[in-house]
Amino acid sequence: MLTEHISLYQQRVNQELELNINHLTVTDERLKQAMLHGALLGGKRIRPFLVYAVGDMLGVSLNTLDKCAAAIECIHAYSLIHDDLPAMDDDDLRRGQPTVHVAFDEAMAILAGDALQALAFDIISTPVDGLTPQQQLAMTNVLAKAAGYLGMCGGQAIDLNSTDRAISLEQLTRLHNLKTGALIRCAVELAIIAAKISAEHGQALLDFADAIGLAFQVQDDILDITASTEELGKPQGSDTQANKSTYPRLLGLAGAQQTAEQLIKDALSALAKLPYNSQLIAEFARYIIERRV
Ligand code: IPE
Ligand code: IPE
Ligand code: MG
Ligand code: MG
Ligand code: MG
Repeated sequence: MLTEHISLYQQRVNQELELNINHLTVTDERLKQAMLHGALLGGKRIRPFLVYAVGDMLGVSLNTLDKCAAAIECIHAYSLIHDDLPAMDDDDLRRGQPTVHVAFDEAMAILAGDALQALAFDIISTPVDGLTPQQQLAMTNVLAKAAGYLGMCGGQAIDLNSTDRAISLEQLTRLHNLKTGALIRCAVELAIIAAKISAEHGQALLDFADAIGLAFQVQDDILDITASTEELGKPQGSDTQANKSTYPRLLGLAGAQQTAEQLIKDALSALAKLPYNSQLIAEFARYIIERRV
C-alpha cells in the first residue's frame, strides 16, 4: 500500500510542479531551466506525501491539496539548491545529477532558489477550490514560519555554526528540529488546516509530525555514513568530510539508530490517539528509518 501511494502522490505533485513552472512566461530561459533542474529531477517528495496522505485521511479531496503539496516542495527544492552551494555544504551531486550551481553557475543557483521560494508563496496564496481565503491565509503564514528564521533557515544557520565544533545533544536536536523538522511539521499542518479538525486531534498529528521529522534527519545523518553515493544520489561522507554535527557523531551509529527507532515508536503512540484510519502514515513512519535513500 505504501509504495503505490508514494508513487501516486509523486506523480500528482510532479504534474502540479511542472504545470506551475512550465507555464511561467519566460523572463530568463536559463533561470527557468535552473528552477526545473532543482525542482523536477528526482526527489522522494516526502513532504507532498504527508500533505496528501494526512489530508486524505482527514477527508480532504486530493484536488484541494495539490497546491499545498507543490508549494511545500518548492520551498524544499530551494532549500536543497542553497544547501549545496559552495558557501554552505559545497556538494556537487544531488538526486544523481550535478547540483544546480555545477550544472548552471552559482548566481543562477542562488536565483533559482530565490525564485522557487517566491513561487511557493505565489502557489499557496492563489485562490483554490475547496479552501476559504482564511484557510489559505493561515497556510501561507504557517509555510512562511516553517521556511524562515523560526524554521528551516534558522536551523541551517545553527548547522553552519555547529560545524567544526562539539555541541550538546539538546542543541543538535534543536538544530535538526528546525532545519528539517519544521518543514515536515508544516506539511502535516497544511493538511490539518485544510481539514479543520479538533485541536486535540491536530495536536496528536503534530506530535506525530515532530517525531518523524526528527527521525528523518537522524536517518539522513545515518545514511551519510552507511549508504553509497550511488544509492543516495548525493556524495556519501559529506557530513564527515565537512566535520558536521550529526547524530552518529554524537551518539555513535548504534546510538543514532536507537534514537530513530524510539522516535518512530513515539510517532506511532501519537497516532494511536486518533479516531482515523492511520495505517498508511504509520507505514510511512517505518519507511522513514528503513529507507536507503
Ligand atoms: C534531504 O531531503 C535534505 C534533508 C532535509 C534531510 P530529502 O531526503 O527529502 O531529499 P529529496 O527531496 O528526496 O531529494
Ligand atoms: C539539509 O540537511 C537540510 C535542509 C534544510 C536542506 P543536509 O545538509 O544534511 O541535507 P543533505 O544531506 O545535503 O541532503
Ligand atoms: Mg546542510
Ligand atoms: Mg547538505
Ligand atoms: Mg545530510
